Amino acid sequence: MMTSTTQSVPSVLRPSNGHRDRPPQAQPSRRSAPTDPEEAASVKLAAADAREIRIAIGELSDIATARRQGRALAIELGFEGGDVILIVAVISEMARNIVDYARCGEVLIRPLQQAARSGILVVAQDTGPGIPDLIRAMQYGCATRKGLGMGLPGVRWLVDEFEISSKAGQGTTVTTKKWVKKFE
Ligand SMILES: Nc1ncnc2c1ncn2[C@@H]1O[C@H](COP(=O)(O)OP(=O)(O)OP(=O)(O)O)[C@@H](O)[C@H]1O
Ligand SMILES: [Mg+2]
Repeated sequence: MMTSTTQSVPSVLRPSNGHRDRPPQAQPSRRSAPTDPEEAASVKLAAADAREIRIAIGELSDIATARRQGRALAIELGFEGGDVILIVAVISEMARNIVDYARCGEVLIRPLQQAARSGILVVAQDTGPGIPDLIRAMQYGCATRKGLGMGLPGVRWLVDEFEISSKAGQGTTVTTKKWVKKFE
């Protein structure tokens, strides 16, 4: 009987469908602040969700779409110069792996708000073959077929939080967070 294992590499290990492209939705219309706390919470969630982007990844041109939309959101969220480039690179590597190894999947990009800091969440998800040895895949230069084996380790260096989980035969999910730097 074949057994499948789920492996995940959490952030603590960090050393330091057809074209379903959905453009970001319009900002919610202005309205007076709700008094009911439950309603207030749902309005806050709706506001965060309104800028969520989901890009179906199935071919190379989808990578360009994800890069473009991710770049626009990163700038909107307050990331500057070099960080915008890093975020675009992260999106690119994650989406490219979907095309190369899983053929299709999805990239989700959304704003993060935690206390006074804001950031960006990038998740790449597929239901492809999975990665049998995650520890090995996270080492520089561990390429199996197509590339140089720099993608995943590079992404882990570029973001503030990184998590990967994969189940043989069932797919891979890479979750990253990057926070806007505050200069006092
Ligand atoms: N979504 C995925 N599904 C299945 N296997 C994957 C996936 N992403 C990565 N892998 C496996 O992990 C290995 C390491 O990926 P990584 O992106 O680091 O390097 P690469 O794609 O081989 O080369 P590079 O990204 O430098 O062009 C890949 O060679 C591939 O075997
Ligand atoms: Mg790669």
